Amino acid sequence: MKVLVTGGTGYIGSHTCIQMIASGVTPVILDNLYNSKALVLDRIEEVTGTRPEFYQGDIRDSAILETIFAQHRIDAVIHFAGLKAVGESVEKPLMYYENNVAGTLNLVQAMERAGVTRLIFSSSATVYGDPASVPIRENFPTSATNPYGRSKLMVEECLSDFHKANPEWSITLLRYFNPVGAHKSGRLGEDPQGIPNNLLPFVAQVAVGRREKLGVFGNDYPTPDGTGVRDYIHVVDLADGHLAALNKVSQKAGLHIFNLGTGHGNSVLEMVAAFEQAAQKPIPYQILPRRPGDIAECWADPSYAEQQLGWKAQRSLQEMVEDTWRWQEMNPQGYQD
Ligand code: NAD
Ligand code: UD1
Repeated sequence: MKVLVTGGTGYIGSHTCIQMIASGVTPVILDNLYNSKALVLDRIEEVTGTRPEFYQGDIRDSAILETIFAQHRIDAVIHFAGLKAVGESVEKPLMYYENNVAGTLNLVQAMERAGVTRLIFSSSATVYGDPASVPIRENFPTSATNPYGRSKLMVEECLSDFHKANPEWSITLLRYFNPVGAHKSGRLGEDPQGIPNNLLPFVAQVAVGRREKLGVFGNDYPTPDGTGVRDYIHVVDLADGHLAALNKVSQKAGLHIFNLGTGHGNSVLEMVAAFEQAAQKPIPYQILPRRPGDIAECWADPSYAEQQLGWKAQRSLQEMVEDTWRWQEMNPQGYQD
């Protein structure tokens, strides 16, 4: 099976390509390297022995999509390419709608022309907004509180309308909870540019001495220790979720929606304590006011994915923080030639 992977040199895409190669699926990567480096291709080759075919280009460029579909017999598309910084999306909403929404429409139109009818899309638990209760099931109401989240919701809605008109397609929406961790080798991981927005990359940069201390955004939430609770999932488990979707449902016509999470929540302070244990050093932190738009707690009910895909997250919290630390310690400045 040959799969076009948009955004394949990014954090989740690169780990998914590795799991694909290991199970005999051939990835063809399209990435404009806006938020990733070509060096990732060397690292994928290093750990798998296979260098994925790579096109540097943009999902908004119909010509490059046509070239790829003409040069390869693509069976399915896994679509990771997108922008993901919530704060930036508030400042530059059009950039987000253009890249995430218009980009996806362009990709689907190119697939239609090429007769490729199987798509797996990277959605997010952010589409549940502030959930009325936890754990979150796929049939919970959706809403968005910022342009990034709205772009994901818009794409979900566009794809759902498109599927009604084209029921022979297989479209899978994967709603990720909080991906963390890194490849066991320590050669691939998350490499945010500038100040990390997400918790674990920030903690890892404190541990490695790139930042002085963590700011904990609020300790007055209605949670056991007052800090925010999230469903952290190892990126390799998440990658395996894509393979399960590819093998189990992307053969079947339909609009398929799955939560990819562990079903367990951990607080900010629990994550800090776990990381301190893995790195064997203290992580200094200071309590700051709540971050606007944050919710108290969010975790998945992943039972539908288990039932339908035969997939379940396997890796423990300890592995998540140990693997993150190994990557950060071996690559203190991220990917560098
Ligand atoms: P990432 O930034 O590491 O990877 C995205 C990749 O897409 C990057 O390599 C970037 O260069 C590329 N890209 C962006 N716009 C492009 C375009 N127009 N054309 C071609 N390539 C383009 O992000 P990630 O964490 O790997 O996330 C992958 C997907 O999963 C994104 O769609 C993101 O919104 C979604 N998601 C991520 C998280 C998370 O916490 N990381 C959570 C939920 C959903
Ligand atoms: C954020 C995004 C969400 C996105 C998700 C995964 C916001 C408002 N939401 O969610 O849209 O889908 O990332 O990419 O940005 N925290 C700190 N200090 C930090 C960073 C985070 O205390 O420096 C806390 C947060 O308040 C939260 C938890 O850590 O309680 C996790 O934060 P984060 O990693 O940003 O993920 P989300 O808030 O789930």
